[in-house]
Amino acid sequence: MSFLTGLFSSDMAIDLGTANTLIYVRGKGIVLSEPSVVAYHVKDGKKQVLAVGEDAKLMLGRTPGSIEAIRPMREGVIADFDTAEEMIKHFIRKVHKRTTFSKPKIIVCVPHGATPVEKRAIRQSVLSAGARRAGLIAEPIAAAIGAGMPITDPTGNMVVDVGGGTTEVAVLSLGDIVYARSVRVGGDRMDEAIVAYLRRHQNLLIGDSTAERIKTSIGTARMPDDGRGQSMTIRGRDLLNGVPKETEINQAQVAEALAEPVQQICDAVMQALEATPPDLAADIVDRGVMLTGGGALLGDLDLALREQTGLSISVANESLNCVALGTGKALEYEKQLRHVIDYES
Ligand SMILES: Nc1ncnc2c1ncn2[C@@H]1O[C@H](COP(=O)(O)OP(=O)(O)OP(=O)(O)O)[C@@H](O)[C@H]1O
Ligand SMILES: [Mg+2]
Repeated sequence: MSFLTGLFSSDMAIDLGTANTLIYVRGKGIVLSEPSVVAYHVKDGKKQVLAVGEDAKLMLGRTPGSIEAIRPMREGVIADFDTAEEMIKHFIRKVHKRTTFSKPKIIVCVPHGATPVEKRAIRQSVLSAGARRAGLIAEPIAAAIGAGMPITDPTGNMVVDVGGGTTEVAVLSLGDIVYARSVRVGGDRMDEAIVAYLRRHQNLLIGDSTAERIKTSIGTARMPDDGRGQSMTIRGRDLLNGVPKETEINQAQVAEALAEPVQQICDAVMQALEATPPDLAADIVDRGVMLTGGGALLGDLDLALREQTGLSISVANESLNCVALGTGKALEYEKQLRHVIDYES
């Protein structure tokens, strides 16, 4: 019978991220990965959903007065409850085929530092989006499982998840969190730093999506050896005369712009090491640190961290997918990993 239930229900694991939402379906793997954005059409004070995910992201920063594009998640937690629920419903509907007989069980990951109120909000929106049961898993645990770390061993494992809204640094041993700290620095802050840099140094105003494109194309956490590195052409508005302008930005400039957020990430890792019990810290020196999340893809972030901490640093395979893969694995191996999933409160 349980075999049949397994066949017919599409139980899911969801990584509800500040930048991206991913859905993993039991037995299938990751079936959806879209930006956490909802666009509404606003008419006579009434909102109607116009687009969700990829299509809505294209509208960010380009909307006329009648359209509103919203990112419902901020710093890893729900900032706009109604919009988040709308988004979750939309995504679940997209992957949950009506051929199934039962409502799915859904596991969602939450930042380690989420408050009981924030956790309840996430649980509630999943339930009202049609889940039969809603379980929560701490994001650092999911990230570590997804990165293939041996989290149930009696050794210290450090995982650093650099997401869009936050960076979570955690030390795990025996399947649980020994230390975790979340700092409000991630990809969004890097984008803002690039916008601010260009405004200050080149009197050029660019939008967040242009900043993100600069970051993902030539972004780097370290000064290039030749003092310049690669460059790319960018467009924005000249703040002196108000007209569109085209100019170039090179990697040295991007490194300078990103120096502060990168330093904050390094500091969070240093603080975690200082707060870790000595034997576990020794394990981390032996085993190194694992980077996950989209921000882990920033050029040379691993090198910058290695230089500052003296530890060996690896970037996880599929770093953007680690949290969803780990949450999915917790769903697949629920019997063995039961203690990391929280169905109550
Ligand atoms: N190649 C890259 N270089 C630098 N940053 C990148 C790269 N690719 C993606 N990113 C950034 O990674 C971030 C998204 O990562 P991720 O999907 O892990 O975040 P999230 O899980 O949605 O956020 P959070 O975990 O904070 O809630 C975005 O800010 C994106 O710009
Ligand atoms: Mg994340």
